[in-house]
Amino acid sequence: MSERFTKSAARNVFYGGSVFFFAIFVGLTAQSHWHILTTSTDVSTLTESVVRGKEVWEKNSCINCHSLLGEGAYFAPELGNVWVRYGGKDDAEAAREGLIAWMQSQPTGIEGRRQMPQFHLTDQELNDLVDFLEWTSRINTQNWPPNDAG
Ligand code: HEC
Repeated sequence: MSERFTKSAARNVFYGGSVFFFAIFVGLTAQSHWHILTTSTDVSTLTESVVRGKEVWEKNSCINCHSLLGEGAYFAPELGNVWVRYGGKDDAEAAREGLIAWMQSQPTGIEGRRQMPQFHLTDQELNDLVDFLEWTSRINTQNWPPNDAG
């Protein structure tokens, strides 16, 4: 019995298994990449203002308090769907105004409520941020989060 599983057979199982699973790994990586490019990223609406908005988002480290599509900190609300929460699907102009007014009126100073700092953003930066948040809200997240409040 033990002679049948020779050293060379063990070596073949090792190398064969490694090559096989490495090939699967490469295939899945390519599939993920392809999915990101063709399904989850809407390149046609990826405007310059969306890109600038993302830069404003990064420069001000909004992610230190907020999460975006689940990634980030859990001190403040998820913002991947904030555009939807502000009614952007029905009235884009009102959602834009609402979001900008919200950011401009922080901190509220209401006792017992978590506070968001005032970032003193310019009109351009605020509009770019809203463009970024609107674009993000359209990313196909396969229905995550399960409700708008998430
Ligand atoms: C120091 C933590 C902190 C940082 C940094 C921060 N926020 Fe906030 N943000 C909050 C808190 C806390 C709330 C909720 C406050 C409340 O409900 O009164 C909030 C709420 C919001 C809301 C409203 C969410 C909703 O569901 O009504 C928006 C929009 C928002 N932040 C955008 C931003 C953007 C854009 C940045 C970066 C420029 C940012 N925040 C950075 C703490 C932060």
